[in-house]
Amino acid sequence: MFFYPLLPIFWAVSAKADFFQFESISNVSTYYFNYIYCNIWEGECQQNQDDATQQVPTRDLWAAFPQDYISLLSQWYCSLGQCCESGDCRITNNITGLASDLQLKLHGQHLAQSVVLKAVQGFISNPESNKPLTLSFHGCSGTGKNFVTRIVADNLYRDGVKSECVRLFIAPFHFPHARLVDTYKGQLREAIRDMVLRCPQTLFIFDEAEKLHPGLIDAIKPYMDHYDNVDGVSYRRAVFLFLSNIGTTTVNDVALDFWHSGQNREDIGMEDLEHRLRAEAMDSQGGFAQSELMSGHLIDFFVPFLPLEYRHVKLCARDAYAARGLEPDEGTLDEVAKAMLYTPKEERLFSAQGCKSIPQRINFFLP
Ligand SMILES: *[C@@H]1O[C@H](CO)[C@@H](O)[C@H](O)[C@H]1NC(C)=O
Ligand SMILES: *[C@@H]1O[C@H](CO)[C@@H](O)[C@H](O)[C@H]1NC(C)=O
Repeated sequence: MFFYPLLPIFWAVSAKADFFQFESISNVSTYYFNYIYCNIWEGECQQNQDDATQQVPTRDLWAAFPQDYISLLSQWYCSLGQCCESGDCRITNNITGLASDLQLKLHGQHLAQSVVLKAVQGFISNPESNKPLTLSFHGCSGTGKNFVTRIVADNLYRDGVKSECVRLFIAPFHFPHARLVDTYKGQLREAIRDMVLRCPQTLFIFDEAEKLHPGLIDAIKPYMDHYDNVDGVSYRRAVFLFLSNIGTTTVNDVALDFWHSGQNREDIGMEDLEHRLRAEAMDSQGGFAQSELMSGHLIDFFVPFLPLEYRHVKLCARDAYAARGLEPDEGTLDEVAKAMLYTPKEERLFSAQGCKSIPQRINFFLP
């Protein structure tokens, strides 16, 4: 009995399961299913490894096994977190949570708030979409690009950024040497393919995207395009996020213009920005900016992050205290906000580092 050694594992998992669950389980992740079948059970696998994900044992095979073992195996498989009523427990797609997090936790970014929500909601509610979702976040450091990325991950995936469905690439860290770009291309393609096979709705995050080599962008472009599949794999449920400081000048200029003319910051609309953002992106040097990704229509949404004002920094400080269970008075919040540097020189309107490292900074102000 070749499954004998595994029985203790099965027994460790309690509760009931039924055989018919198995069919849906095999639909959930043929990849893992096949892995167990071939490698642990040493079942009959065809040798073509590329095709490995396509082979799923048929029902007939399972019918030959004693019922008990099947339900135990089914339980064990589910205990790995791979099966759920929703189809895939790793995915939560909590749009309500996304909306409320963007509303409550993000400060001073009315555009990012509405664009990100609209984009993600539209994508999730339309499983037939014919391309992956691609978003490009623009703004200077500390304005919330990483923060929003985390909010998205937290609400779409059970394990947030730690999910096996989320992959972060930091351009200067993962791809530091221009001379190795050909190696990186292969690695990146393989990583993307591998991730999507394991989890169709994978979130790929490219941080400091302005430093991505043009060759790398060309390499991944096909995955973002309107193809049914690339070499037999469909990327249409994937999400690509690019975070960069490209276009920051434009965003800051528009925010400053609005302030000078006495208009509300909240009245800045996408129409005031998107066109100029695209134009500045094309003018700037570097791979991502000049890539066809930008000029073509592969980026679905440009998301501007406005420079933060004194009052926003205070809100960030309040959140940072609240996270430690503290409720500071206005005076304390003012002290924290005053400790930041503000630009431009004359107006001193925008925090040069946004809300960056506020949680660390409040250490200095703790009693
Ligand atoms: C599993 O997939 C097959 C074919 O793709 C489909 O006919 C069947 O209804 C699916 N079963 C479940 C439970 O989703
Ligand atoms: C979605 O998020 C909200 C707010 O964070 C939470 O109250 C709710 O339980 C979540 N829903 C699911 C299905 O996880």
